[in-house]
Amino acid sequence: MLRVFDSKCMPFIPIVLFAFAMMIVNLGGTTQAGAQTAIAVPPPPMGWSSWNSFSNTVDAKITMAQADAMVANGMAKAGYQYVNIDEGWWLGQRDADGNIVVDGKAWPALAPGERAGDMANIVRYIHSKGLKAGIYTDAGMDGCSMYPDLGPVYQHVGSEGHYEQDFLQFAKWGFDYVKVDWCGGDKEKLDPAVQYAEIARAIDRVQAKTGHRLYFSICEWGNNSPWTWAPNIGGAPSDIWRTSGDIVPPIVPHQKHSGRLASFTGMLANFDQGVHPEAEHTGFYNDPDMMVVGMPGLTEAQNRVHMSLWAISAAPLIVGADLTTLSPAALATLTNPEAIAIDQDSLGLQGVKVATRGDGLEVWSKALASPGERAVLLLNRTGDPASITVHWGDLGLQDALTTSVRDVWARKELGKFESSYSAHVQSNDAVLLIVRGREGKLTEYAAGASERGSTVQEVLFRNVSSRVRIGRVRIAYRNPDHTPRIAELRVNGQIPTRIAFPPTGSAQAPGAVWIQAIFDREGAENVLDFSQMSDAGLIIQSIAIE
Ligand code: GLA
Repeated sequence: MLRVFDSKCMPFIPIVLFAFAMMIVNLGGTTQAGAQTAIAVPPPPMGWSSWNSFSNTVDAKITMAQADAMVANGMAKAGYQYVNIDEGWWLGQRDADGNIVVDGKAWPALAPGERAGDMANIVRYIHSKGLKAGIYTDAGMDGCSMYPDLGPVYQHVGSEGHYEQDFLQFAKWGFDYVKVDWCGGDKEKLDPAVQYAEIARAIDRVQAKTGHRLYFSICEWGNNSPWTWAPNIGGAPSDIWRTSGDIVPPIVPHQKHSGRLASFTGMLANFDQGVHPEAEHTGFYNDPDMMVVGMPGLTEAQNRVHMSLWAISAAPLIVGADLTTLSPAALATLTNPEAIAIDQDSLGLQGVKVATRGDGLEVWSKALASPGERAVLLLNRTGDPASITVHWGDLGLQDALTTSVRDVWARKELGKFESSYSAHVQSNDAVLLIVRGREGKLTEYAAGASERGSTVQEVLFRNVSSRVRIGRVRIAYRNPDHTPRIAELRVNGQIPTRIAFPPTGSAQAPGAVWIQAIFDREGAENVLDFSQMSDAGLIIQSIAIE
């Protein structure tokens, strides 16, 4: 039985719809956007990956040098922590029991008492530096080593048929992160939503057995719209998914493709393909690929634009350059604390394009956890310098004389501006700002009084309107459990997204998470339908819409 109140407070209209559905009432009202404490969600991962600069030549020596450099050059202090070993660490051999066999020459003993060919050695080394370790496999039988960038072809470098065994092995070796590629799955024409869900469940079981959690990085290149199925796939608490192909194939000095260059347009194309703000929330992130900042092909200004775009997207900050040879300028770009803070902001939202001022002149805005705060990117994609203006109204802020503007790359306050700010932006360049202003009003829709105190299986909000097409939604809830609760949200019958609600401390303690939804109906015609995925326990109290 589902009973619905509309926003005009009509009497009961009983509608038989769902066996477990509950009564919800919408009370239209306005509220200050910062009113409810937002609960911090897991930030996107930060680290380094071997692929872009070492291809399949990666070994222990290279990995140790990168870990050393990450600490020595200040990146670790700035927040980078993962040292990720990509394709090439394993060549497809298994023993009679199906266990992965590793080349002891590439991965030798690193300390007394260690055995060559034991990947726990390199993990111990990485951990000894205060860093975390990442490993790589494929969801299919074969991996990408069947199409080698360098060196001979290797078959059977995938985990299909061994998911539980391999992921248990990774966890026992001590790895903290696993990237799972799709070359084999693609070749076999498998369904990625099915395979990756199976892998996610294997990772969960491995965690239950070992107490060790593998952060899950899905690498399906965006071919099958992973943003529609990847968030919380198979019940995994947190993950990232690639939204496009590689920005550039590997550039390895002294090897046959050493003349390759990363391109600005290639980087921009990956950024554009990664924009799926409705799926990026509560610790789940679109991944537009490892960064090429500091690699051959990009100027210093282009490196800054690249970092700005990844930060405004809350993209994983996984560096592909060789950390031992980074220029001081590239290092400064990668470690700018304000750009990193934008990326890692605890609301976990992706920036969205809020205005286009002529062809190729764009204003992007990312809402930050501090009420009234936005990261704003003024992006000039054209061949000429241009002035770009951001209006506070486009950011969901009220006009106010007290609104301040800060330049993130100049690290400097620019002053106070009542309703807008204009900057001169060079061709193919961008200006990254922090705007601190007065938060706009949100419209609040409350769940029915009787449901606010108890768990409901399904919560439906009707007659919802938003000022903007991609609108921010604050969801006020309570989760007395120790782990996140999951609910599925379907907006206007669109493909649903799975939202993680972190613990709020107790059944009495209120909290809030923010998401962004596509309001594709004009006026008060939008419908938001939440249904609980996990066991009962989550209480959704109200939503507030920009
Ligand atoms: C794919 C991935 C890359 C890298 C290579 C390894 O191309 O997208 O990130 O892992 O495979 O072969």
